[in-house]
Amino acid sequence: MKDGGGTRPATTVVQGGRRPEWTGAAVNTPVWRASTILYPDTAALKEGLKTNADGDWFYGRRGTPTQWSFAEALTALDPGAVGTMLYPSGAAAVAGALLSVLHPGDHLLMVDSAYDPTRRLCDAYLAQRGITTTYYDPLIGGGIDALVRPETRAIFMESPGSLTFEVQDVPAIVAVAKARGLTTLIDNTWATPLYLSVMEMGVDLSIVACTKYIVGHSDVMLGSVTSGAATWDALRLTAQVLGQCVSPDDAYLAARGLRTLAVRMAKHCDSGLTVAHWLQDQPQVARVLHPAVNDCPGHDLFVRDFEGSAGLFGFELADGSPEAAAKFVDALHHFGIGYSWGGYESLALPVEPSRCRSAVDWGGGTIIRLHIGLEDPRDLIADLSQALSQL
Ligand SMILES: Cc1ncc(COP(=O)(O)O)c(C=O)c1O
Repeated sequence: MKDGGGTRPATTVVQGGRRPEWTGAAVNTPVWRASTILYPDTAALKEGLKTNADGDWFYGRRGTPTQWSFAEALTALDPGAVGTMLYPSGAAAVAGALLSVLHPGDHLLMVDSAYDPTRRLCDAYLAQRGITTTYYDPLIGGGIDALVRPETRAIFMESPGSLTFEVQDVPAIVAVAKARGLTTLIDNTWATPLYLSVMEMGVDLSIVACTKYIVGHSDVMLGSVTSGAATWDALRLTAQVLGQCVSPDDAYLAARGLRTLAVRMAKHCDSGLTVAHWLQDQPQVARVLHPAVNDCPGHDLFVRDFEGSAGLFGFELADGSPEAAAKFVDALHHFGIGYSWGGYESLALPVEPSRCRSAVDWGGGTIIRLHIGLEDPRDLIADLSQALSQL
């Protein structure tokens, strides 16, 4: 399944999945639109039904070279992975991964800083099917062992956490999971496999909302789950029986985004840090929550484990009221106001993390979440400066 093995990540994003039998003479694997796949005769039809691997024509829901090529490129980016399933959104990928692991009666350990719709999946859907969830402190590390019950089946991580950016001790949690025979899952959307090699750390299932940095242009919804050997068959079966598939047009655009991921991430990383460090020095700013900045809980783990940082982070104003945050965001000119992130453009959003916490008080008020895009950071800083001066 893997392609480009042995190369460095920036090379793999360029080369992965570009098999000549899929690209033809072109550089990119074209958009193959298909529902019906035609067989030359009934003997070939029978033969086709015998396989369940990407790369064998069967029926549109099982994909075409456009989806296979993109999935193979993602697998190649996560050394240790055996395959990748694609989903119509990041949220569908989270659900697909969890449903492939959990059965009625199971118990799940879910990080308290998880993306809110992931929490909703646990509370509003899994709970009704007899799967219980305990939320744990993102900074728990190896202490998670104390929360494991006889019926615990899996540990879900997201590092850094949504909205509050705590960095988790992934190796310590994986060590506990391995000792206890548990499956580990991580939402690796922020770092992408370029900046955090979760499969090499022993995580079983790596979820990426490709909607963000992989697509990179704010125009496609898509998710992926990349799997190690132990969880692959169940992941694939679950996606197939739930009818999960993505359009070839979306897979094409995502693959096109992937080819420039390394250069875009480097720029998001640099500009994000420039802006974060500038914010640290502003009197109107109480603290900056950026994993690469030492105020951020788990910063030492970030330094130990990550290859770089994304352009998404938060900060708190000295006046931590929702009104001040709204006034500040409304005064910005270069930042769009909207959900999502990971595109080429900068975004700003006031958020209230306490609304999606239950295990630990995260210890803050309104956060302003910034996504630093590919604009010149000097323009972004000038804009942030004029908005701060209006407070
Ligand atoms: C960390 C994280 N995971 C998953 C998702 C879900 O992705 P999608 O919007 O593609 O469903 C998001 C979306 O914002 C996210 O921020």
